[in-house]
This record gives sequence, C-alpha cells and structure tokens, in this order.
Amino acid sequence: MRVFRVRAFIVLLSSTMSVAAFASCGTSAGVDPTVDGSTVTPLPTGTAPTTKNGLPCDVDSVLAKNCRSCHGDTPSFGAPMPLTSYETLVAPSKADPQKRMIDLVLKRIRDDAAPMPQAPNPRLSAADMATMDAWANAGAPRSEAACGGGTDSGTVAPLDCKPDMKIGPANAWAMPQAAKNEYVCYGVDVTADDDKHVIALAPRIENAKIVHHVLIFKSDTAYPTKPQECPSGGSLQWRLMYGWAPGAKNMVLPKEAGFALKKGQSTHFVVQVHYNNAQGLPAETDSSGFDLCTAAPREFEADVLAFGTTRIDVPRKSSSDRTCTFNIPAALTDSKRIFAAMPHMHELGTAIETKLYKGGTGAPIDLGTVPNWDFNTQYWQPLDANIKSGDVVKTRCAWKNTTDTDVGFGENTEDEMCYSFTLYYPRIESNLWSWTLPAYSANCVDTPK
Ligand code: HEC
Repeated sequence: MRVFRVRAFIVLLSSTMSVAAFASCGTSAGVDPTVDGSTVTPLPTGTAPTTKNGLPCDVDSVLAKNCRSCHGDTPSFGAPMPLTSYETLVAPSKADPQKRMIDLVLKRIRDDAAPMPQAPNPRLSAADMATMDAWANAGAPRSEAACGGGTDSGTVAPLDCKPDMKIGPANAWAMPQAAKNEYVCYGVDVTADDDKHVIALAPRIENAKIVHHVLIFKSDTAYPTKPQECPSGGSLQWRLMYGWAPGAKNMVLPKEAGFALKKGQSTHFVVQVHYNNAQGLPAETDSSGFDLCTAAPREFEADVLAFGTTRIDVPRKSSSDRTCTFNIPAALTDSKRIFAAMPHMHELGTAIETKLYKGGTGAPIDLGTVPNWDFNTQYWQPLDANIKSGDVVKTRCAWKNTTDTDVGFGENTEDEMCYSFTLYYPRIESNLWSWTLPAYSANCVDTPK
C-alpha cells in the first residue's frame, strides 16, 4: 500500500479502491459519473444527433468537428457562446453587436494572431474553410436538413496508468459572477514515505464551464492550500512542470524517467487555474487539479530547466525582439534527453521560440515554438532531442508594449518573462547548477531581421 503523508488535499487510491470518489466531485454539465479517475472529464457534448438545427449538414459537421468541444450548447473553457444552430450563427456578436456571429467566425478562422480553434487544436483544413465560405457567400441560408448537432467531445485519451495521487485545492473556488478573468493558485505539499517517481500527469477539469487553462509548478517553498487569487505570472520560485489548455494532451514521461518524490522530504506543488466566466454565470465553483501516477523510482530522475533570459527591457510604447544564446557548459559531458517544453511569457509577449544547434552549427532543432504567443493558451509541447557540452541553444522572445510603463523581468502580471521551461533527464546534480542558470547566463542581442 502506498502511503503519503500530506499537508493538503491529496486523495490516495490503492489499486483496488473504487475511483468513484473522483467523479463524485464533478458538477459540470456532461460529466459522466462512471468516468474513471484517470481520464480528463469528457467535454460537454452538443445536442443529440439527427435533429434539425437549421444548418446545412456540411457546415454543421465542420462546427461539430472543430468548434463544439468548446462552443457546445453549454459553452466551455471560456468560450462565450454556442455554435450549435442556425440561430447561434446569425445572432449578433456580444462583443461587437454590429456583426453577426458568422462574420466573426469567418474572421477568426483566418486570424493568425487569435485563431479559432485556439492552439493547440489544429486549424481548419482548406476544405473546411471552403465549406464555411461557400455557405456565407450564399447568404448563410437556413437549412431544413436533419443532420444536426453532432460533436467531437474532444476527450483526452485516458492514462494507461492508474492515478494514485490527486492534487486538488483544500476547498472549491467560488467564481464571482462579475469576474471575467481570474487567476487562482493553491499549494499541495507531498511527503512520500518511500522514494517514488511521478510518471504521468493528467489534468482533472471539474467545471469546464469556467476553467480556461491549468498549470502545475514545482516550488521551492510551500504555498497556501486554500485557493486564492494570485498574480497571473506566478512566482519566480516556481518551475512550470506541465500545462494544459483545451486540446492539449496528458503528459506521460519517457519510460526510463520520472519526477522524484524523495522519502521524508516535502515536495511543494502549486497549481494555477485560469478561470474565464465569459457568460457571467452565477454560483459556479471549481476544484480542478491534476491526477498523477507514481511508481517505484525509475532509472533516471527528470527535472526542469529554463532557457530564455531574465534580462528584459521593453520600454513603454515600443516593441522588443531578442535572441538569447546559451552555450551548454563543458561540464555537461554526458548527454541529456529533452522530452517536453513549456514556453512561458506574460501578457505582452508576441512570440517565443527555442532552437538547438548541435555542436553550435548545423540545422536548428526545434525545442518549442509558439509563433503567436497567447498568454491565455499555455500548454506543453512534446519533444525528443539531446543536449550536451558544445551545443548551443537560442531562445527568441518578442514583446509589444502598448502601455505607458517600461516593463522588465519579474513575476507580477505587469512584468514580463522569457522562459522556455524544458523537461529533461538525467537531472543535473552539480551544486553549481540551478534550473534558471541557462536563462540567467544567456547572452541576448536584437534578433537579426
Ligand atoms: C478549445 C476551445 C475552443 C475551440 C475548439 C474553439 N473556440 Fe472559439 N472561442 C474559445 C474561447 C475561449 C473564446 C473567447 C476568447 C477569444 O475570443 O479568443 C472563443 C471565441 C470565439 C469567437 C469570438 C466571439 C465573440 O463574440 O467575440 C468566435 C467567432 C469563435 N470563437 C469561433 C470559433 C469557431 C468557428 C471554432 C471552430 C472552427 C472555434 N471557435 C473553436 C474557445 C474555443
């Protein structure tokens, strides 16, 4: 029997114990009460198939496939409206009542800066775009076809392992009706009675109506267990381990590596949830968090480091585009395998990309790219690359500061960051090493045009 001593709210499940306890907390629409704890809660589904919803079948099918995991009858993950019927597509936009929703749809499916569907979901295919265009060009006529309402639930495949550790808040967060965006954090401390490795992480989204994205950090210090509002930027003490936005996947670590939980030592996790109550719903609550699988220690311990820079200066009303170079130190003679990246900037960021040059030359290898940075859609990217001494890593960060204040590096919402959190193994053990060293010691120049 695995035993953890816990300071906060961790539910332990032996392999035989029923997992019904997991599902019983779910209150949102579409939660399947039989769902296994190892899955992400299925997203709300649209109306039942083969009803008339006024949309031609081809248009209906494009929306079902690409949009309704968020824009269902009960919109989720911060989506402001359904896209489930003729009426919903010809209704005036709330944000811009001069326009009909279909006009905004046509705009957003082509909008590279704020695309729909939002990343990491794939963009519409050329054929799907053509279907939407053809219908709009014909004047978006109502259809009497009976095909309507199907939806791709967007469910993330369940983990193969059985989660035995549940990371959640001490109490549910009560979402104010008037608040549109809120960043809420809580801490969970874990003290393992035995050496263990975390080998997989899955988000547990309990109230899809208001959860927009979730991040889990490892922290040097404990954080309050009750959810509370926190700066959107988090803290400089926190290292991002995993992030999820609708459409992103669970993280399963390579089979030879895990994040260590050391016997008798406290590991501090911090969860940050971004809530978006676009619809102004009253009395919504949420206890989203993460389900973790642990196992006996594997061959290698995984860890997080940050490429990028801590030297940031974006004067008021200006833009900055910097490329920062980190030479992998000579001491790093044995190769490290990189398996994931979590690029991270704040709200003025416009792009972030990290590239690896083996031996300092050669063709660049992508270590995580977000060409149109959107602070509100952060998620991890799987990778497979090796780094060792002699290699060079370059991170490019770009910002646009439209405010009246000069902006520098920091943890507050108004400050900026350029961290490409990178997950790797085996963990670097040197006393001279710290996770922030690559970013701290990188040399930056203006990105060559
Ligand atoms: C992963 C969730 C998700 C998916 C999938 C998604 N959306 Fe959205 N959508 C959102 C969120 C969140 C917002 C509100 C924030 C914003 O405007 O970016 C939004 C906003 C919009 C808006 C702006 C509405 C307004 O009144 O301003 C349009 C139009 C839109 N989506 C169309 C679409 C279409 C069309 C698709 C499919 C082709 C789609 N979305 C797929 C999450 C999603």
